[in-house]
Amino acid sequence: MQHEFPNGRILRLVRGDITQVEVDAICNAANSGLRGGGGVDGAIHRAGGPALMEELNQIRAAQGGCKTGSAVATSAGNLPAKFVFHAVGPVYQGGRGNEEDQLASCYRTCLELAQERKLQRISFPSISTGVYGYPLEEAAPIAIGTVFDWLAELRTTVEEAIFVLFDGRTLAAYENALRARARGAAVRW
Ligand code: APR
Repeated sequence: MQHEFPNGRILRLVRGDITQVEVDAICNAANSGLRGGGGVDGAIHRAGGPALMEELNQIRAAQGGCKTGSAVATSAGNLPAKFVFHAVGPVYQGGRGNEEDQLASCYRTCLELAQERKLQRISFPSISTGVYGYPLEEAAPIAIGTVFDWLAELRTTVEEAIFVLFDGRTLAAYENALRARARGAAVRW
C-alpha cells in the first residue's frame, strides 16, 4: 500500500524484513544503551556486521548512550543502505507518561538525520511495538501521522519513506492508520 502526496513524495507500507530493503538509511529500534538486542535490533546487527557495534561503542564512550525519543547514526556495514539510524523508542507504561511524544520524536529525529545528510529514501520498522509493548493500534497512528506530516512539507530532501512491517497484523494496523490519515489530509486539502 502507498500514499502519493501532491508534492510527489511517497509513503509506502510493505511487509518484510527491513534488512532486505535497499534505501539510503535504515532506522533501527534500539535501546538507550546502544548495546544491540533481539527483534529488529538483532536482525540489523546480524546483517550489518560488527562495524555497527564498533561505531556504537565509540558513540557510547563519547556520550554514554542515547536517550529515549532520540537516535544516533552509524554506517550500514553490509546492509543495503548508507546509514543506520538507531532510534530509542519508549517502553510503554500505560500511556500515562509522554510515550506518545517520545515515539513521535523517534521518527522525527530519524527524518532530521536523513535531512541533514540530504538522503532521499528511508525505511522504518514499527518502533516500540515489540519488546517495548506499545499497543499497535496506538503506535501506528503516531508513526504514520509523524512521517505523513513530514513528507507533506516541502522543505525536506526525503522523497520516500517505507515502513517495513514484519507480520500481517502489524501491516494491517499501519494500513488502517495510513487510510485514516490520508482521508484526513484529503479533507484538509
Ligand atoms: N524487519 C522488520 N521488522 C522487524 C524485524 C525485521 N527483520 N524483526 C522484528 N521486527 C519487528 C517486530 O516484529 C516489531 O513489530 O520490529 C518491531 C519492533 O519490535 P522490537 O524489535 O522488539 O523493538 P521494540 O519493541 O522497539 O523494543 C526494542 O528490543 O531488540 C531489543 O535492543 C532492542 O532493547 C531494544 C528493544
